[in-house]
Amino acid sequence: MPNDLPVAQGAPPAGGLKPLSERILPPEFYDSFITKRSKERIEDPIRSRLQLEDRPGTISMLAGKPNPETYPMTSLQFTLRDPVTNQEVPIALTEIELERSLQYSGSKGIPEFLEWLVGLQEFSHGRKPGEGWDLSFGAGSSDLIHKAILALLEEGDSAIIESPVYAGVFPVLHEAKCDLIELSGDENGIDTVALRKTLENWPKNKRKPKLLYTIPFGCNPTGVTSTIERRLEVLGLAREHNFLIFEDDPYYYLYFGSAPRPPSYFALEVDQPEVGRVVRLDSLSKVLSAGMRIGFLSAPQVISDAVLLHTMGSNLQPPTFTQVISWKLLSTWGYAAYQQHVYRVADFYRTKRDEFARLMDKHLTGLAEWTIPEAGMFFWFKLLLDGGDEGDSEALIRKEALEGGILALPGTVFLPSGGKTAYVRASFSLLPETMVDEGLRRLRVVLLKARGEA
Ligand SMILES: Cc1ncc(COP(=O)(O)O)c(C=O)c1O
Repeated sequence: MPNDLPVAQGAPPAGGLKPLSERILPPEFYDSFITKRSKERIEDPIRSRLQLEDRPGTISMLAGKPNPETYPMTSLQFTLRDPVTNQEVPIALTEIELERSLQYSGSKGIPEFLEWLVGLQEFSHGRKPGEGWDLSFGAGSSDLIHKAILALLEEGDSAIIESPVYAGVFPVLHEAKCDLIELSGDENGIDTVALRKTLENWPKNKRKPKLLYTIPFGCNPTGVTSTIERRLEVLGLAREHNFLIFEDDPYYYLYFGSAPRPPSYFALEVDQPEVGRVVRLDSLSKVLSAGMRIGFLSAPQVISDAVLLHTMGSNLQPPTFTQVISWKLLSTWGYAAYQQHVYRVADFYRTKRDEFARLMDKHLTGLAEWTIPEAGMFFWFKLLLDGGDEGDSEALIRKEALEGGILALPGTVFLPSGGKTAYVRASFSLLPETMVDEGLRRLRVVLLKARGEA
């Protein structure tokens, strides 16, 4: 079973820290972080009045809400596998819940679901409401990443990005037109020595990076989970050099390492001299459903508000339908059962990882090098091609491997500025053992051919 979810919390602040309430960064602190475009966003005059409908005794003629009597869906039931007993439990939405789920709702998320998620942050990260952060729900974490990046980065700004890194974040960074400083790492996480050097040698006439984007658990694509020591160093550097930590953490619940689970940045920052430098992105895509699009942002109030304003002016709100279903599901379970569920999910992927590792040994020993991931769903391996580290997997994976019947991603797609790399990313989440066996055998054939050894 993976390490306990709730992290060690509540230890008295080390080194005579002030009480937490005095360490929370004030709203003005973010003035120089929020982009011009974000500051200029205006409120949607209809959406911003929606909560007035809840005033007792109010007769609302406000919004263009459709009449649910016209909707064809009349009931909704589903079954839920109980994580503790493994029994299939029938769940039905009440008439009111169904009606609610089919109607517009607030841009931030429906209150009962937000409340459940705030409770989850306390359960998993020891962060309590009222500590200077707020939570917003989005259509997957991608939705919130996009909006938070545009709230914080614009032309002329700099950002540090772990590299190689999740390629899905490149389009919005490109849209933000910011300068990216790529930071490599090792099996312990970000290279903090290089980070310090970069920051200490930063040109005097240029603003230091506003943020550092990192995927601290089971990084996509490298599979690396950052150690607690590295995380603490990054937090220290953030304070010293005044940047925010953008913690994109969809693999948090997919940790199956043998070492104790490191706390998140969000958890660790409460014991720092300043609190409010972490923008945390959570996703339930990997543990509940990717199709329901459940992501949430836990960030300083000012940043959360900026994201909310973006939502109001773009997609109005995340879907009420999936919020009601997710809330029903999660509140039926409660936190303890949710914890059991994510343990099971992590165990499942640990088994998949072990299968994949065994088959990597069988087929690719001597042809590739890799480290074993301890979270997430990816193997990141270096092909031993001519040219060693300078080798390039791109053409081989794009053409020869595909022709040989195997599809994976060449490492170059995860480099923010492109370039050659001998690395390849393979996902181990979905395939049954027999197909992994066959896929890696095919890759072996392709590699042997490329090396002239077939
Ligand atoms: C690092 C990282 N961030 C964000 C996402 C997007 O997740 P979501 O489904 O919540 O939008 C992914 C999906 O694979 C990911 O790997």
